[in-house]
Amino acid sequence: MSIDRIAVVGGGTMGNGIAHVVAQHGKTVRLVDLSPDVLERAIETISRNLERQVKKGSIDAAEKEATLGRIETETDLAAGAVDVDLIVEAVPEKPELKYSIFETLDDAAGPDTILASNTSSISITEIAARTRRPEKVIGMHFMNPVPVMELVEVIRGLATSDETTRATVDLARALGKTPVEVNDFPGFVSNRVLMPMINEAVTALMEGVAEVEAIDTVMKLGMNHPMGPLKLADLIGLDTCLNILEVLHRELGDDRYRPSPLLRKYVAAGWLGRKSGRGFYSYDRP
Ligand code: CAA
Repeated sequence: MSIDRIAVVGGGTMGNGIAHVVAQHGKTVRLVDLSPDVLERAIETISRNLERQVKKGSIDAAEKEATLGRIETETDLAAGAVDVDLIVEAVPEKPELKYSIFETLDDAAGPDTILASNTSSISITEIAARTRRPEKVIGMHFMNPVPVMELVEVIRGLATSDETTRATVDLARALGKTPVEVNDFPGFVSNRVLMPMINEAVTALMEGVAEVEAIDTVMKLGMNHPMGPLKLADLIGLDTCLNILEVLHRELGDDRYRPSPLLRKYVAAGWLGRKSGRGFYSYDRP
């Protein structure tokens, strides 16, 4: 099954990154978000990130324009779901929000359309159970920043068919990514391993083990990580980190996933990392 027409639901950090990569690889993309402002900012971000690629010579100006020309926007969820081969949902990590979006997509999309979720921790099996096509529901978990990171974690729900998995794996390869298949457990592999490290770094900060820069420098220089865990948390979004830890804590029932109180406090203050201009670090431009 060839996948050429794709809709991306959610114009935030992950959604605009996914739309960027899909359009850059010659496929048409419909970016869907209820907010026209979010859509406008998403197109600006994609344009800015494409310009980076032009500046460093990996694409030319014509390719940038052609990529932007393959992206259309839509503010109505049901209208956004028609006439596409696959839909990737990339809205905030709230289970009820995802369930209701999948119910609408299931009603509106053609019977052959694959419904993928970019969820970083919510059960694909549970999302699929809200639809009448659980065999066509799958996890397609991109990493941030999407245009740069090579991995796509492909998550099979309990009912996901081999055909859906094959088509999704082929699509990830066609987008220049390396797909890795994993089973449906809370946090999959990526966040089950990553989030406890970030949470521990926040707890170390809270307990006064070291300052922000010191914690990050230890992990960068000592473990060769490209960025320290606190800077990475700012990149991912502290609200997203908290949401993922809450899913891990609740679903696995183990206190080692209990979100650090300091993480909760930052999120309560609206210090969400890069996107809000302040997290463990300060940023000039949200
Ligand atoms: N779009 C396009 N290109 C981008 C980009 C973007 N949004 N962001 C960075 N780049 C490009 C730059 O142009 C640059 O390209 P060249 O090397 O070819 O010149 C390259 O990426 C590196 O960028 P910078 O030089 O600006 O910065 P850097 O060397 O410090 O790298 C980084 C930045 C790629 C983000 C690197 O620090 C990194 O890999 N960090 C770790 C990221 C990570 O772990 N992501 C996963 C998060 S977990 C997740 O997403 C899943 C989840 O569920 C929470």
